[in-house]
Amino acid sequence: MISTRVATRGTMASKRTSAQLLKSFNGLNTSSTIGLRPAFIVVKQIHPVSSQRNFSTTPAKPKVTEFFPQKETELVRKTEPAWPHPIYSYEQMEAVTVAHREAKTFSDKIALIAVKVLRWGLDVATGYKHDKAIALGEKDPAAADKKYGMTEEKYMIRNVFLESVAGVPGMVAGMLRHLHSMRRMKRDNGWIESLLEESFNERMHLLTFLKMQQPGLFMRAMVLGAQGVWFNALFFAYLISPRTVHRFVGYLEEEAVITYTRQIKDLDAGRLPKWQHLEAPQIAIDYWKMPEDKRSMRDLLLYIRADESKHREVNHTFGNLDQKNDPNPYNSEYKDPSRPHPTKDLVHQKPEGWERTDII
Ligand SMILES: [Fe+2]
Ligand SMILES: [Fe+2]
Repeated sequence: MISTRVATRGTMASKRTSAQLLKSFNGLNTSSTIGLRPAFIVVKQIHPVSSQRNFSTTPAKPKVTEFFPQKETELVRKTEPAWPHPIYSYEQMEAVTVAHREAKTFSDKIALIAVKVLRWGLDVATGYKHDKAIALGEKDPAAADKKYGMTEEKYMIRNVFLESVAGVPGMVAGMLRHLHSMRRMKRDNGWIESLLEESFNERMHLLTFLKMQQPGLFMRAMVLGAQGVWFNALFFAYLISPRTVHRFVGYLEEEAVITYTRQIKDLDAGRLPKWQHLEAPQIAIDYWKMPEDKRSMRDLLLYIRADESKHREVNHTFGNLDQKNDPNPYNSEYKDPSRPHPTKDLVHQKPEGWERTDII
């Protein structure tokens, strides 16, 4: 990290170096403003490779800028994340699939409609029309690209906004269950930890994306406004019907898995060239304990999608349980451990959630 910073300063040192960098950059922008109505984000994404060669022994891959480097202090070497992330294998992450839990009850249907409405609003706001793009792309790829093309910047805007709101429900639910437990002088049965951990994990997604792109004023205002409305709406909704909120989050996470799956597909299809050789930021490497040969942007998307699939499963499972009396199956030890049961990692994947009778 230090070597990267030294290299960064080095790039400013001489005009000649800058000229060389621009040449060696091969179409990758050092700094550009994205024109998504209106232009939210200033992209200052990738440092050219050649600038780092003199100072660093790291491989010649594009690195993301450290927008908020960890503060160096005299005595502290490193601060670990509050919740260490479980290890995911590559096969487990590749096995994550898009899935949908059928809305069976009235409360399920309310939750699903709410998610559909929110998704529609966000699609309109961020110009995301993937299905239409694919349909037109089959007939006229150039026109589809011009009209609906999702660029790296558009995806990043969407990811930053989504992750900034995704970290709220778990915190609200965890907080309310914490207060409920104290107020009613009853135990919580282990739910609080999973809920807070989920929101922590979402915030790590956000911090990772923020290492790659810094939001402008408009985006910050959107996040601020959304958080104000979102937090309060979830607060009251969770007081009224926690089961509906868990189902709602389960459906929301189904959408998150769809979104990240599309990003991975677009990347594989060569539609996101700036991400093709992009390395994951250090914060992500540390948090997910990414193996040395699996630290690309694609790998990062696989990790994040796997997390979203876990949130999908956890919230659908919570939505199936007795909210007041059932233990948290993700925090429990089972009488027969050989029987498949919920875990924090991806060993047993249940995209539609575990049914109560199978685990309680
Ligand atoms: Fe997320
Ligand atoms: Fe999520």
